Amino acid sequence: MAGQDVNDNRVAAVVIMAAGAGTRMRSAIPKVLHRIAGKSLVALAIDSADALAPDRLVVVVGHQREQVSAHLGEVAPHVMIAVQERPLGTGDAVRSGLAVLPGITGEVVVTSGDVPLLTGETLLDLVAAHRDAANAVTLLTAVVPDPTGYGRIVREGDEVARIVEQADATDAELDLTEINAGIYVFDAATLTEGLASLQAGNAKGELYLTDVVAHARAAGRRVGARILADHLQTEGVNDRAQLAERGAELNRRILARWMADGVTVVDPATTWVEAGVDLAEDVTLKPGTSLEGATSVSRGATIGPDTTLIDCEVGENARVLRTHAELAVIGPDTTVGPFSYLRPGTELGSRAHVGAFVETKKAIIGEGAKVPHLTYCGDAEVGAGANIGAGTIFANYDGVTKSTSTVGVNSFVGSDSVLVAPVHIADGAYVAAGSTITGDVGPGELAVSRGQQRNIPGWVARKRAGTKTAASAEAALAAKEASQKEDSQ
Ligand code: UD1
Ligand code: CA
Repeated sequence: MAGQDVNDNRVAAVVIMAAGAGTRMRSAIPKVLHRIAGKSLVALAIDSADALAPDRLVVVVGHQREQVSAHLGEVAPHVMIAVQERPLGTGDAVRSGLAVLPGITGEVVVTSGDVPLLTGETLLDLVAAHRDAANAVTLLTAVVPDPTGYGRIVREGDEVARIVEQADATDAELDLTEINAGIYVFDAATLTEGLASLQAGNAKGELYLTDVVAHARAAGRRVGARILADHLQTEGVNDRAQLAERGAELNRRILARWMADGVTVVDPATTWVEAGVDLAEDVTLKPGTSLEGATSVSRGATIGPDTTLIDCEVGENARVLRTHAELAVIGPDTTVGPFSYLRPGTELGSRAHVGAFVETKKAIIGEGAKVPHLTYCGDAEVGAGANIGAGTIFANYDGVTKSTSTVGVNSFVGSDSVLVAPVHIADGAYVAAGSTITGDVGPGELAVSRGQQRNIPGWVARKRAGTKTAASAEAALAAKEASQKEDSQ
């Protein structure tokens, strides 16, 4: 074959069919844009195709093509987009794909945008089998417990004779359990000839790609099939129930890989880790944990229970429990939670602590600093070793603009204080509890901003006579008087 090096895994092209209407999803979103493990179905199909490093990678779009094309532009700018004008069937979809590959020779791999568990390794094996047997067509098949809905493989002896679709099958053919995964390697010339011969004389009135198999056989070409033992990889997504099943299976596979790499997953059934997440050895994931986006967790950290991290970075030996965090950096040996809410722009230094009912946003918290209880910390910089008392509010918004406040190194903000931004509290300063701070505080100063305390004797007896409080006051005063008498004797 021209330009084809036998030691090279490159195929001439991969064509991913993604133009179907996906009616059974009952969705305003195109089927291939539905997500599992944080990635669209079509992005997962592209990931496995990329393992082949094909010279050309084509995605065939049709139904809601603007949305699908826009998504491809974002997640896979290296793919070529081909348009199938009308959904006339999988044979027509591949024709549309080949239209952007004029004069193609060599091997063309065809896959579907709705078979998300298929791995790149399986595709590499399929291409190797195709080459070893010198086939013109090699199909990926699987023997499944319930073949309903799939095309069945009709064999003559060991050889594949044809594929019959569910809607066109006889009762005897419906009992066949070897199914067509919809994943193929074709010799380009065999494919082009086969596609030219297709006719829509079937139950669905479509041009079936699967009919290329019988055509190749009739033309005397070699057709082979590789049976994939791991049949779950071949399962498609046609409705929401299958979307959930494939999603759960992909999650189980992702968790199995991380466990093999030294991550403890206490309860795989309630732990969700998306495809883009990175975990180090000796990370522990407790029940109810969901790690999403580009989250990374370093060695020895413990996450959960009941924690969701989206695009977060967690340092070594950190502990994050019952927390919701997005676009936050959590330093090494830092503890977060329970019941903390870290919003985008949060950066916690090492050995810091953010505790219960604390919300942070665009907050840089220094090494060893503590924000332990009931605090809103937005647009803030807190120096190393500082302590933010319970109930402190960084009032960052005046109704028009947001401003930043700072608290210096080893400073102490007393409980229930309001820091009205922008204010700057220097290193080594104190704010007295209950203060409303509207001006800067210098190094070594104590800022107090609250009413002087005044006690009014006899107020309860006068204004709340007859209440249980008044009774207690009377008793306490009597006891006090008695003990004073005793002391003076
Ligand atoms: C197809 C196969 C079937 C196989 C199954 C595996 C055919 C005729 N049947 O059936 O043998 O067991 O896949 O999952 O090929 N598409 C287009 N344009 C179209 C029609 C479909 O791009 O006009 C795309 C769809 O978006 C989808 C893929 O092709 O990604 C498969 O189409 P689908 O309608 O799901 O085919 P199945 O009925 O599942
Ligand atoms: Ca399908």
